[in-house]
Amino acid sequence: MKTIAIILGSTRKNALGRRLFNYLKQLTAETTHATTQFTFLDLTNYHLPFFDDPLPPMANSQRDLPANQQQWLDDIAAADGYIFLTPEYNHAEPAVLKNALDFLAFEAQHKPAKLISYSDNLRGGQFGAAALVPILQRLGMVVLPKPTPVGNVQATLQPDGQLIANAPLASRYRQGLSAALNEINYYTTVLTDHPFKA
Ligand SMILES: Cc1cc2nc3c(=O)[nH]c(=O)nc-3n(C[C@H](O)[C@H](O)[C@H](O)COP(=O)(O)O)c2cc1C
Repeated sequence: MKTIAIILGSTRKNALGRRLFNYLKQLTAETTHATTQFTFLDLTNYHLPFFDDPLPPMANSQRDLPANQQQWLDDIAAADGYIFLTPEYNHAEPAVLKNALDFLAFEAQHKPAKLISYSDNLRGGQFGAAALVPILQRLGMVVLPKPTPVGNVQATLQPDGQLIANAPLASRYRQGLSAALNEINYYTTVLTDHPFKA
């Protein structure tokens, strides 16, 4: 069984991204990916401080972290592939997501990462995804070639993740996000079946 972790990149109160997070919980439950399980990582649950360790994680093999910080590393290490849900804050990813990523060392290296960006307008937060690419690559992830931008979330999904009846983008959401799940599932299967050996 493979594990794909879906990470919500915003911790804002009433984050719009939570609607997408909740929609993906429903979509993954409905979709048959026989040998894959999906986990949902909500950064608010880890209570990460601003990263201030004296050494960079990649240069520190003797880390003795508090349980909440170690849990974040363990949850990332336990996954074989990732979906990052990111909005765009001033043309980049949210600081809270960058901060969480700064805690990582090698937990995600050689594993595939799919980017889904979102926004409250029709541009779909694409600069957020673009800014995240070099960060994930630096951490050793294999970033899939085409991010999936998701626009107008507030007009398409209810807070619990249900599609709003007759929303103009409803069918495109189902189609585009199902395709994104299939894509990360495919690459995760390929890379776990054929792991990189140095
Ligand atoms: C600090 C901040 C900066 C933002 N910057 C942008 C931006 O550069 N481009 C954009 O399209 N939307 C921008 N937005 C609007 C977001 O797309 C919108 O608020 C979205 O709901 C954010 O996701 P969240 O609610 O899950 O945090 C910004 C929002 C915030 C809070």
